[in-house]
Formats: sequence, C-alpha cells, structure tokens
Amino acid sequence: MKEHTTGSSVKLDKPFGVDYDLVQGIMKDPQVHTIRLASSMRGHYKDAASLEALIAQSDPVHYEVFEMKIPQEVGQLQFCISKTYPGTVGGECFMTKGHYHAVPGTAEIYLCLRGEGYMLMKLPAGESAYEKFLPGRMCYVPPFWGHRTVNTGDEPLISFCVYPGEAGHNYGDIEKERFPLRVFKRGGKVEIVPAKAG
Ligand code: F6R
Ligand code: ZN
Repeated sequence: MKEHTTGSSVKLDKPFGVDYDLVQGIMKDPQVHTIRLASSMRGHYKDAASLEALIAQSDPVHYEVFEMKIPQEVGQLQFCISKTYPGTVGGECFMTKGHYHAVPGTAEIYLCLRGEGYMLMKLPAGESAYEKFLPGRMCYVPPFWGHRTVNTGDEPLISFCVYPGEAGHNYGDIEKERFPLRVFKRGGKVEIVPAKAG
C-alpha cells in the first residue's frame, strides 16, 4: 500500500468545498491518497499463484481512495472517492480488500458515478448479500455489514462514499472470516459464486 498526505491546505473546522473530476474519478486536491497495488491483495483471491504472477509481471494498481482528513468523531461525516481498476486474477475480478467498520453499527452510502460491478456484503454471522453498481445507482450498506467493491467492467469503477465520522475500519475480522461470495469474469460472462465453489 502506498499512502501519502498531499499538500491540500483546506481547513476542516470551517465550511469548505471540494472539487472532483468526475471523468477521471478523482478528488482534485485530497488530503489523503491511498493506492493499493496487487501486492497488497495477497490472501484475497482464490488463485494465489495467478496473483503472484501478476505481481511479478507489473504489480498493477488495484484501487485508489481519495479523502480529506475529517476528524474521526461522532457528528462528522467521512467522504471519499473509491476507484477500483478493471482486471482479473485467475478469472476473479479486481476488488477492494473489504472491511467492517471499527464502530460496527455505522452505515455507509456508495453512489456509483462510473463503471460497473458489485458491492459484496456480509454479516459477522455469515449472511451475505450483493448489490449491482451502475452509474447513478446507490448502494446502502446497513450498520454491521462488511463490504467490498468488485469491478466487473472494462473501465474504472468509481463511487462517492459517505459514512459517519467515528466509523473507522476493521480489516482483520473479515480477512479471517473471508467473504462468502466471489465474482469471476470468464469469456465476458460475469458469475457470482459461493466462495467454496469458486
Ligand atoms: C470507507 C469505505 C470505502 C473503502 C474503499 C477502499 O468506509 O468503505 O471508502 O475504504 O472503497 O476499500 P477498503 O477500505 O476495503 O480497502
Ligand atoms: Zn466502509
């Protein structure tokens, strides 16, 4: 993972505006820009050997997140652009790592701006769900649901996300439990399958 703080000098304790490039799917002057490469996705794809081959070949960017440094406090709203690149690893579509919120009873809204794909979701007890991402379609992730974005298209999948200030991220639990569903694209056909069958 590469994460860097940028030069944005916006003061967050006063009202402020943020500029977006909706064609590129970027926040123009973010305070935090996170880039996750294929090499930060070990353990997430079914075909570990194909992931290693991809890392050795070019270690491409999987996804980027553009954010402002909003205080992690009740009453604030976190917001970001999440941009997941197209591609496959052994037929499985590029995706984000996925997480629960560290304060689990906090929801999130993802408004899809460009691209196509799915939001995969799961509860700690195992129940799973998915929602289609298409431009103009919003996905509501209720409190307690872990969530992961999957790009099934040929261009970046870009969403604008908003969630409570205090939410935070918990990557560890879902990494241990694993998502019950996987998304593959073979010969142009997208399939969502139980992880065990994948
Ligand atoms: C924030 C959120 C998104 C993701 C982003 C990257 O709560 O859900 O902004 O953080 O899509 O995915 P992860 O965080 O799973 O690497
Ligand atoms: Zn989230």
